[in-house]
Amino acid sequence: MISAIMIGAGSRGIGAYGAYAELNRERIRFVGVADPDPMRRGYFAMKHAIAMENQFTSDEEILMQPKMADVCFICTQDNMHFVPAKKAIEKGYHLFLEKPMAVNPFDCIELGKIAEANHVHLMIGHVLRYTPFFATIKQLLDSGRIGRLISIQHNENVAFWHQAHSFVRGNWRNRKLSSPMILAKSCHDLDLMIWFAKAHPIKVSSFGSLSHYKSEFIPKGAPKFCMDGCQYAKECPYFAPKVYLNAPDWLKLPVSNDMSDDALLKALKKGPYGRCVYQCDNDVVDHQVTAIEFANEITVAFTMTGFTHENTRTIKLMGTKGEIRGHMDKNILEVYQFGTEAPEVISTVAKSSGHGGGDEGIMEALIALIEEGKNTDITDHNASIESHLLAFAAEESRLSGKTIDFAAYVATLSR
Ligand SMILES: NC(=O)c1ccc[n+]([C@@H]2O[C@H](COP(=O)([O-])OP(=O)(O)OC[C@H]3O[C@@H](n4cnc5c(N)ncnc54)[C@H](O)[C@@H]3O)[C@@H](O)[C@H]2O)c1
Repeated sequence: MISAIMIGAGSRGIGAYGAYAELNRERIRFVGVADPDPMRRGYFAMKHAIAMENQFTSDEEILMQPKMADVCFICTQDNMHFVPAKKAIEKGYHLFLEKPMAVNPFDCIELGKIAEANHVHLMIGHVLRYTPFFATIKQLLDSGRIGRLISIQHNENVAFWHQAHSFVRGNWRNRKLSSPMILAKSCHDLDLMIWFAKAHPIKVSSFGSLSHYKSEFIPKGAPKFCMDGCQYAKECPYFAPKVYLNAPDWLKLPVSNDMSDDALLKALKKGPYGRCVYQCDNDVVDHQVTAIEFANEITVAFTMTGFTHENTRTIKLMGTKGEIRGHMDKNILEVYQFGTEAPEVISTVAKSSGHGGGDEGIMEALIALIEEGKNTDITDHNASIESHLLAFAAEESRLSGKTIDFAAYVATLSR
């Protein structure tokens, strides 16, 4: 059994890691919480029976106390990771830090160094490595089923409604308020590409822009807020009441802690999630494509796009002896071996729903890491740092229009 504190009892803090602890009380126990929102803090404290004196209103406050647990979870927003992460490590906590680790490459590198200097484990919330779906792909590759891996075509299908929710109206809409979308949404995917390729990236090129969710596409006469009598309510797929009233809880929570229809409608009336998607303060891309070459000649074409019907990941891995095709949400892998017609179809059922089973898988890996010191290539923070740096390099390429020499880029980051 390990003990933990939670900084940021929001969607991830409550819904992913808190939820795991509720179901696995003999494995992990939260003994402290910090969140300025009294409802969220109180809810988390109630679910985990946290004593009043261990409930705090900020990261600063909880980290001023003497160390009270094995691990500190940091599940605040992207630009609020670095400062508490550094403090927690220096206090001697092992750290579970939500991705992205930090919003600039220097801070990512520094966190790795501080963790090493303080001899604590640093685990980043790259949950996809822990899904049965991607873990099975890894096993298939390592077993040589498709020969030597040569190329990967990977798609992050964000879905039009998710793009609008998170990257147009929501928390990750604006680079300055959070981080570039390739980092916020896709450091997971870049992490998988490095994991599969088993090599360092050498070159990266990326293109993309914000092409649709902007003022030039405001339907004629549409008001700033959907509920101010928008005449396109019926046909617009983004009409806020239509999106949120029947949505899953994780989509409703950022809109309002009280998820009743009345409270949601009230929040949508003048709140950020009730805005016309063509009239927000968003500036992150809505589509981006990234090409990567690895040191062992493996190439990757990775597309992240908001313009999809489904919210899922689809992948094709091409090797010298065969091909793997996968659809994450269907949990289906098809393995083709050259010279045979029919594929082997593998169904990879996840034990739980959060991120295809990844939320549960990463908690189990964290507990094993703290209790037994098991440090596999899955949990190594240096791998996570490299995938973050690859995201920053891709963004640099997108903005500069140049192909980035990855090693040279990383060399510029030493301070
Ligand atoms: N691993 C994944 O797959 C995954 C998925 C989604 C989000 N994320 C990341 O997880 C992080 C959290 O996302 P979320 O959707 O849960 O956000 P959220 O906004 O729902 O939760 C953040 C919480 O932090 C609290 N907070 C604000 N200031 C604080 C402070 N000073 N001290 C303590 N708490 C404070 C807020 O009140 C809120 O409850 C983000 O970095 C996000 O990018 C990771």
